[in-house]
Amino acid sequence: MDPLKDLRGYLEWLEDNGILVRIKQPVSPILEIPAILRKVMYSKGPSLLFENVKGFENWKIAGNLFPNLKTLANALSVQKMEEIGERLVEPLNAPLPLEFFDKVKSIREISKISSYIPKKTSKANFTENVIEKDNNPLDKIPFFKTWPKDGGKYGTFPMVITMDKEKNVINMGVYRFMVLDGKKGVIHWQIHKRGSMMHKKALEKGEDKIPVAIIIGSDPGTMLTSVSPVPYPLDKALFAGIIRNKGIELYELDNGILVPSNAEVVLEGYVKTKELVEEGPFGDHWGYYDKPVEKYPVFEVDKVYFRDNPIYYGSVTGIPPLEDAILGKAIERMFKPIINFLLPEVVEINYPPEGVFQGMLIVSIKKMYPGHAKKVMNALWGLGQSSLTKIIIVVDSDIDPNDIGKVIWAVSSNVNPEKDVLIIPNSHSDALDPSNEYPSFGSKLGIDATKKLPEENNGKIWPEIVEEDPNVLKSIENVINEIMNFKSNFKINL
Ligand SMILES: Cc1cc2nc3c(=O)[nH]c(=O)nc-3n(C[C@H](O)[C@H](O)[C@H](O)COP(=O)(O)O)c2cc1C
Repeated sequence: MDPLKDLRGYLEWLEDNGILVRIKQPVSPILEIPAILRKVMYSKGPSLLFENVKGFENWKIAGNLFPNLKTLANALSVQKMEEIGERLVEPLNAPLPLEFFDKVKSIREISKISSYIPKKTSKANFTENVIEKDNNPLDKIPFFKTWPKDGGKYGTFPMVITMDKEKNVINMGVYRFMVLDGKKGVIHWQIHKRGSMMHKKALEKGEDKIPVAIIIGSDPGTMLTSVSPVPYPLDKALFAGIIRNKGIELYELDNGILVPSNAEVVLEGYVKTKELVEEGPFGDHWGYYDKPVEKYPVFEVDKVYFRDNPIYYGSVTGIPPLEDAILGKAIERMFKPIINFLLPEVVEINYPPEGVFQGMLIVSIKKMYPGHAKKVMNALWGLGQSSLTKIIIVVDSDIDPNDIGKVIWAVSSNVNPEKDVLIIPNSHSDALDPSNEYPSFGSKLGIDATKKLPEENNGKIWPEIVEEDPNVLKSIENVINEIMNFKSNFKINL
């Protein structure tokens, strides 16, 4: 199927597939809708469309757009999210085309990439309505207040677009946006993210402001791109094409920023590079209000565009797992082939949703040499946003990182705490980690829960794991079947 064309196309698709519930009762974006979204997400409920938004007559609000991984994969027309990462690494993994037919095939593969390239357009539906700065456009948008002690109203899924004009690269990241008044807000781009990189570059050049656009609501592939840790300088608009299997259309705003033409709402303006103000508190994805409140740059709006009968989209955070956990899993699966390209010894990875993604990663490896587990930890701590992971547990390939019971068994039985635990003090860390002594600065923990080779274990051969005798298993089959067929209230799962 052709990629879903915009947020409305996605909502229609969700409804056709029985995944969308429309809510007619009046509800407020201030605390009420966020509380509903959390309750429904915790109970693995459907996507929601609020049709009667208190205080915002013409607006609808969409929520829980990413209710589970299967829905997102189906919406992107893939069986598994890994297929997306494979689109990137497949051409690199392909054997050298030495024969004529292989050469033709390889040219076809490479030309597929050209279909991911974005195209410029002079038409965009969001130009249907424009509110100029003097009319306080931010007051017209139903931003959420997500928790009682939040410092204000927030855009919670704003796709913030900046451009690196030197490298001709488009950046697009979801960084929450705290509304200060009808004309300005604060953008929470953390220091490790692309938006902050552009900010720093501008400061180095002595620039007082940089053009920025914030869009709200787009097709699912473009929204997923915005939260994806795509290695710089791979263009985010190009990556959206890779996720969607077709390039996106870009519309040029008056400030020179290129935005997806299918956006529902667009805030055009600029960031004042030297004006930093306190942002927060905000109930974030770690389940805490951020402390201390940090300073971030001010975004000033020039104008706001939106479609007729606009639809706002917001996500909510809190004690995990919530909607961002689904997006995190999607990213984990998408990037698994890329991790494998760089670290072929990695068999499987699991960022447990309760581990907040930057909190914990469990990785299984095909261990080949002494110290291999620590090499993998160090490699991951050196790799893009996986470098923000606080705790990495490495297990052998016979342990599935998704089987938490087995992981605990491996940690409990295979770890000699004196030798198999790596603590890296004074490390960079996720900006919001509540255990940080200073923002974005903490420490790391690596646990090598693999079975140790003699070289790692004072020459001692690792004990043998017990295993049933297959002949005995065969001889007891009938008895096992009799037990399984026994009708009882006791649930048997042999
Ligand atoms: C719901 C949601 C909210 C997010 N809020 C922020 C935020 O406030 N600040 C931030 O730096 N990253 C935030 N992120 C993570 C970024 O979107 C993510 O790191 C992404 O890779 C950023 O894009 P970039 O790598 O191109 O900078 C959020 C992610 C989600 C799913």
